[in-house]
Amino acid sequence: MQDIDYASRLKELEKTIRILQKKLERSEADRQQLENASEVREAILKSVIRELEASQIALENRGQELETILGNLKALQIKLVESEKMSALGVLVAGIAHEINNPVSFIYGNLSYANNYFQDVLDLLEIYQQHYPNPAIAIQEKIKEIELQFIQEDSKKLFQSMMCGAERICEIVKSLRTFSRLDEAEFKTVDIHDGIDSTLVILNNRFKASSNKLCDIQIIRKYGNLPLVECYAGQLNQVFMNILANATDALEEAVVKKKCTQDNFNPTIEIATKVINHDWIEISIADNGLGIAEPVQTKLFDPFFTTKDIGKGTGLGLSISYKIIVELHGGNLECHSAPGTGANFIIQIPIRQYTK
Ligand SMILES: Nc1ncnc2c1ncn2[C@@H]1O[C@H](COP(=O)(O)OP(=O)(O)OP(=O)(O)O)[C@@H](O)[C@H]1O
Ligand SMILES: [Mg+2]
Repeated sequence: MQDIDYASRLKELEKTIRILQKKLERSEADRQQLENASEVREAILKSVIRELEASQIALENRGQELETILGNLKALQIKLVESEKMSALGVLVAGIAHEINNPVSFIYGNLSYANNYFQDVLDLLEIYQQHYPNPAIAIQEKIKEIELQFIQEDSKKLFQSMMCGAERICEIVKSLRTFSRLDEAEFKTVDIHDGIDSTLVILNNRFKASSNKLCDIQIIRKYGNLPLVECYAGQLNQVFMNILANATDALEEAVVKKKCTQDNFNPTIEIATKVINHDWIEISIADNGLGIAEPVQTKLFDPFFTTKDIGKGTGLGLSISYKIIVELHGGNLECHSAPGTGANFIIQIPIRQYTK
């Protein structure tokens, strides 16, 4: 009886073991399945992270692209505003120059006749005096009153200075017309030296000594034998104007700092031109101001970069000049400078423009 019990117990136990084993196998399978599933999940998670990272980089790139586009748009806007301003100013300047040109031509043209007539009348008076040394009292009194002797001596100088003034107005009017070059919206073959000279005439007033500038700025021209150059003359004159105005600003600052009268400092701008080779010419504009520090040099041509006081500089002069030289004319614009040694701006442009 007891034997049967053992046997049945054993069977039961075996059965239980089998059941347990099956359960164990199942749970092992489940565990395996779970493990696989978590591996899959981890892989999915990793690929999702990778995709996220990739799209983040793509977003960053897009952001940078947008920033560049925005920068370009801003630059374009500046250029448009500036060229709009310049062409409006050009129309105004050319209009005024044209209006002044006629009356000043009358004055200039007639001055030499007026001088001759006046001298004739004076000569006639002299003859009268020789033939009638004792005129009537009224005539003698008038001679005294108007200081005839002084008029005779001074009238020559007077006419000379009037001629000089009229010549100067003619020169300024001519320079204004050359400078605005309204007629030259397209590439034209011009004499670069005319453009530089007309810009110098317009800036002439700034080179003169004044209350805050104790000495004149000396202009040295070292012009080479340049051929006529195909360019946008009006725009090129803008570049000369910007660089020369900057040099003048720098020299005014140097004069204040170096106290020109004490230190024997002669503020000077040297303009040199030369032919580089068959196809290119070079114009350099150098001043002996305070020069430009390295960190400023890297930003010189950036739009809106200025070291000048608010209201004095907009920081657009050189960035516009760069565009005119590099983009419009396919040339080079560089600045060579070291603190204390002044600055030298070098413009290189092709003699001929080939349609791009
Ligand atoms: N010849 C120079 N000597 C020293 N610094 C210069 C010279 N030319 C330019 N710079 C520096 O470069 C900066 C930028 O010149 P830029 O002509 O672009 O602007 P700006 O003269 O300040 O203003 P504006 O728009 O009125 O020309 C100036 O503020 C100045 O610091
Ligand atoms: Mg400037």
